[in-house]
Amino acid sequence: MADRTPLVIDTDPGIDDALAILLALASPEVDLQLVTTVHGNVELAQVTENALRVLHLAGRSDVPVAAGAAGPLVHPLPERAGHVHGAAGLGGVELPPSPVPVDPRPAVVALAELLLAHEPGTVTVAPIGPLTNLALLLHVFPEAAARIGRVVWMGGSATRGGNVTAAAEFNAWADPEAAAAVLGSGLPVTMVGLDVTLPTVLTQAGIERFRGAGTVGAAAAGFLRQYVDAARDRYGIDGVCVHDALALTEAIVPGTLGTVRREVVVGTTLGAARGQTLVDRRTVAEHGVAVAETVDSEAAVEFLVSRVCSYGD
Ligand code: BDR
Ligand code: CA
Repeated sequence: MADRTPLVIDTDPGIDDALAILLALASPEVDLQLVTTVHGNVELAQVTENALRVLHLAGRSDVPVAAGAAGPLVHPLPERAGHVHGAAGLGGVELPPSPVPVDPRPAVVALAELLLAHEPGTVTVAPIGPLTNLALLLHVFPEAAARIGRVVWMGGSATRGGNVTAAAEFNAWADPEAAAAVLGSGLPVTMVGLDVTLPTVLTQAGIERFRGAGTVGAAAAGFLRQYVDAARDRYGIDGVCVHDALALTEAIVPGTLGTVRREVVVGTTLGAARGQTLVDRRTVAEHGVAVAETVDSEAAVEFLVSRVCSYGD
């Protein structure tokens, strides 16, 4: 196999975040070298603890976890997403604690050091939460940020409206100023938004396949239960939208999703349009954000299920 792509996941676990981390670790195409955490679904201390525990579950406590921003760049969040992910972020499932402590470095320092240690253009960064850490990296270590090969972000929405407000997807809404900075930075960003994640539903049948696949699969089936309940209430579907895992699929196998380069503006006013990602679909923008517009949802779900099932015991 060709060289594995060095990968960093910036995350707020979060049920679909946990699944995304498990997917990356089960994928030989990528080499997960760092996990950075960010406020988002629940508080920073909790998502950091969750990231450590998910890595431990997968037997990969060797991957360092560095804690990042505890809140958005400018305006405090009015609410988080404990109602979707459970108060502690993993759907009420308590995974065994990791024997390894959190990395002492702030997330942006760990990320900058990793980027500076690799050839420019070789590292993929997959932020699957608010973009606060990446915006800070751009400001504090611009020379390191410029070395990122690809940013594959789960967030935003071009055609589907929002999921946290009528206009905004959660990760964009949770730090719109950061999203505006990153999407406008000129970095090679792929936006994996609700347009492709809402149709990509992991059904109960898929979750049942996890249950028969060893400790990791059983734990995943356990924390997905809460997500199924939230999805039923919110979208009336019997299954879950695996938002973050779909972004990771695109990070693992570039080209999984059909993307078109678009100009994207993020709403940063305090009104109803806060956090909206306004995607200009009238034209192709040569230097714009690669917006994921098409997906083979069935293939993406099968990819996820088969990879997570590959843990066995
Ligand atoms: C995004 O919001 C979070 O709740 C999920 O983890 C995902 O990253 C979906 O809008
Ligand atoms: Ca997330």
